[in-house]
Amino acid sequence: MSRTLPLDSSLLKALSGQPNFPPPIWLMRQAGRYLPEYREVRGKVASFLDLCRTPGLAAEVTLQPLRRFDLDAAIVFSDILIIPYALGQKVEFVEGEGPKLEPVKDGKAIAGLNKSNTAKALAPVYETIELVVAALPKNVPLIGFCGAPWTVATYMVEGGGSKEQAAVRLFAYRDQATFQHLIDLLVESSADYLVNQVKAGASALQIFDSWAGSLPEDEFERWCITPTKRLVELVKAELPEIPIIGFPRGAGVLAERYARETDIDAIGCDTSMPVGWMRRLQEQLPVQGNLDPLLLVAGGEALDVRVGAILETLGQQPFIFNLGHGILPETPIEHVTRLLNLVKGRSS
Ligand code: CP3
Repeated sequence: MSRTLPLDSSLLKALSGQPNFPPPIWLMRQAGRYLPEYREVRGKVASFLDLCRTPGLAAEVTLQPLRRFDLDAAIVFSDILIIPYALGQKVEFVEGEGPKLEPVKDGKAIAGLNKSNTAKALAPVYETIELVVAALPKNVPLIGFCGAPWTVATYMVEGGGSKEQAAVRLFAYRDQATFQHLIDLLVESSADYLVNQVKAGASALQIFDSWAGSLPEDEFERWCITPTKRLVELVKAELPEIPIIGFPRGAGVLAERYARETDIDAIGCDTSMPVGWMRRLQEQLPVQGNLDPLLLVAGGEALDVRVGAILETLGQQPFIFNLGHGILPETPIEHVTRLLNLVKGRSS
């Protein structure tokens, strides 16, 4: 399928380094459980993975938030753990508990993963993208995504979410060479996956490194910066023009190095990053973020004040308004409407 780029997209303008006020806005996890229409579709399938694997339904939930709010981008509905699933690992999403994977504990388990079935396993995502792009207004781009190799590896080795990523960090300390194989496999399969998302119609990409913050300096370089740099290189070798947003959640002061060394086009900042610091990063590249998702749950004057401060500090330079992490299921819909009005300069 050939790709016609949205010509007049405020997101793509920001990603190319042009300031524009009001800034574009989209929200991480903008499709999800805070929307009753999402819960309704979710109720039609037995499992969350089935939703990701059914293009008609995945396209529908991708489009739902755009019907309610004038967001400046859609993000394809899938999950970062679709890659371990495509590599043959057992992945399940347990209601109320989050993802559960059969942990990859040693070199033998890593050697058992393979790329031979990935094209088939990921085909529904590409089909979803085609359906979404056909339905989106021409000036609204679709964002494709993957998890960063490090973050995906944490789920693969831990067997799910974890507080400190202790098992995976120990694995990487004790047997760096074997862990490197896993990271390399993730770099290669994620690069193919991102390239194919763009070929199907995505106009920008985001790499989610949700657990970047659990690594000390040397390991941050080894498992976060180097694999992300390689991933970006592989994608850009095929698609030099595609803008890529990196989101190294929790990276703190290391975010500056991440931005400099990975060749990403924009950096997503989490809630803990001071806006003054983001303003400094903006001298280097466009920034995205970083409203506290809990403030969107709380609403009220605190929300108004914070949104005002973010816009005032960052709005005159290349900036994409977003949350500092995914939207929470308990978020009231009217607070999202309020946020959109505030960012777009409308009184409500
Ligand atoms: O709207 C969008 O942003 C697109 C869809 C999207 C999902 N997950 C859908 C989802 C995206 C971009 C993700 C990314 C993702 N998935 C990350 C990176 C961002 C982050 O939050 O740090 C991570 C770490 C995952 C792994 C994952 N998937 C977890 C830990 C969970 C369970 C926690 C939870 O919120 O339930 C999921 C499940 C998941 N992925 C849901 C959704 C809408 C909820 C499951 C459901 O609806 O039944």
